[in-house]
Amino acid sequence: MAPQFVSQYFDKHARALGIPKDARILDVAAGTGMQGVLLKKKYGYTRLDATDASQAMLDKARDTGVYRNFYCCRIGGATSYRWPTVSDTYDSAVMSSGLCEGHIKCDAFLELIRVVKPGGLIVNAMREVNIRKCEEYHNLHPSFKKWAEEKKWECIEHVIPPTKHYMDYDGLVHVYRVL
Ligand SMILES: C[S@@+](CC[C@H](N)C(=O)[O-])C[C@H]1O[C@@H](n2cnc3c(N)ncnc32)[C@H](O)[C@@H]1O
Repeated sequence: MAPQFVSQYFDKHARALGIPKDARILDVAAGTGMQGVLLKKKYGYTRLDATDASQAMLDKARDTGVYRNFYCCRIGGATSYRWPTVSDTYDSAVMSSGLCEGHIKCDAFLELIRVVKPGGLIVNAMREVNIRKCEEYHNLHPSFKKWAEEKKWECIEHVIPPTKHYMDYDGLVHVYRVL
């Protein structure tokens, strides 16, 4: 459900903010590309790029035919390196299920803030339980709040969607706007 949550909340806020269907959108931790398929085929967003730490995943994402550019790179944490992407490149960034145990670290959002233009959206969806279960995410909401206080971004909403993320697990969606 995470790609569906991200697409739904991204589209809702993109419409409200006047972000057009041809906005450049970066799908972070794109995996096999389910997120891109929904954004393009269900919601009509046409300019999608994919990034993932795994080339094998990106190869599958390429097979969907919905992305334009592909970046194989690891973001967040000690092994992070700067993307082949200049600052303020994207109109928005989305991430579904990138925040799982051992996957993307909290500081990756600073890279998303860097590559998204001011006014753009960053939308993330994850399992709500991971905020408590995974030690590495205990600092997620305090970090988000700190970056809002530092005027790097503003919170639009944190929401637990009414439908479950997976089996009995709640989802959690974060919607932020880069300043
Ligand atoms: C659970 S999958 C989610 C895939 C897709 N977004 C979806 O919702 O179907 C997590 C993805 O994160 C990628 N990943 C894990 N750590 C990463 C990192 N530090 N930087 C970039 N991608 C990472 C993995 O290769 C994997 O494809």
